[in-house]
Amino acid sequence: MPQKERNELVDSGWKLQKVTDEHILFSFDCGDQDLNEYFQKDALLHKKALLTQTYYLKATEEIDLPVALIDLCNDSIRLKKFTQTPDLPEKKRYPFLPAVKITRLGVSLPFQSLGVGSHLINMIKQLFITRNRTGCRFLTVDAYNNEDQKAIKFYQKNGFQHLSDKDKSKKTRAMFFDLMRLIKEG
Ligand SMILES: CC(C)(COP(=O)(O)OP(=O)(O)OC[C@H]1O[C@@H](n2cnc3c(N)ncnc32)[C@H](O)[C@@H]1OP(=O)(O)O)[C@@H](O)C(=O)NCCC(=O)NCCS
Repeated sequence: MPQKERNELVDSGWKLQKVTDEHILFSFDCGDQDLNEYFQKDALLHKKALLTQTYYLKATEEIDLPVALIDLCNDSIRLKKFTQTPDLPEKKRYPFLPAVKITRLGVSLPFQSLGVGSHLINMIKQLFITRNRTGCRFLTVDAYNNEDQKAIKFYQKNGFQHLSDKDKSKKTRAMFFDLMRLIKEG
């Protein structure tokens, strides 16, 4: 597979690809000031420091207009925090399991609540079970724990579970999705 295409995914009229041109980020507005500022000012600095990688979702036929932006980094999860048991022989269990963390996610305001964010999450799930250089078992996120519970409901709707009850009253709640579910469910 050519290098350029390894980090791209096309599905149902949408294209997910890495952000390489900072101009794509300048006018992005998801309605959250902190997230907008991050994407407009800090995302590429984080990329240069090898900390995160930003992807954008656009309609396949459209110009480079980001409908959604998502920022990812490597992560790991401690096994003992899980109630369910991964399918590993007892002797081969690892104290930490590999994951990819959604560090930032925003859908452009006019496209919110139309299923775009969920479609993007599905594409990310596909990306990490089909085009991975390394093992990755979980997607993780620290979801905004706002009064309206919008972000938490969004992740729950997309199959994410809470990691613990201890962060119930914190500003963000740690959540995870087990990619193995996709393999088992086919
Ligand atoms: C949160 C966000 C990423 C969701 O993306 P989206 O494309 O709007 O979400 P979807 O249309 O795929 O919605 C899926 C589910 O999310 C929840 N949801 C979405 N919009 C919602 C809203 N305005 N209020 C409450 N729940 C909402 C619902 O459970 C919804 O399911 P339903 O359509 O059956 O009701 C997007 O609204 C956004 O960018 N918000 C601002 C930034 C932000 O909060 N990012 C998350 C940081 S953790």
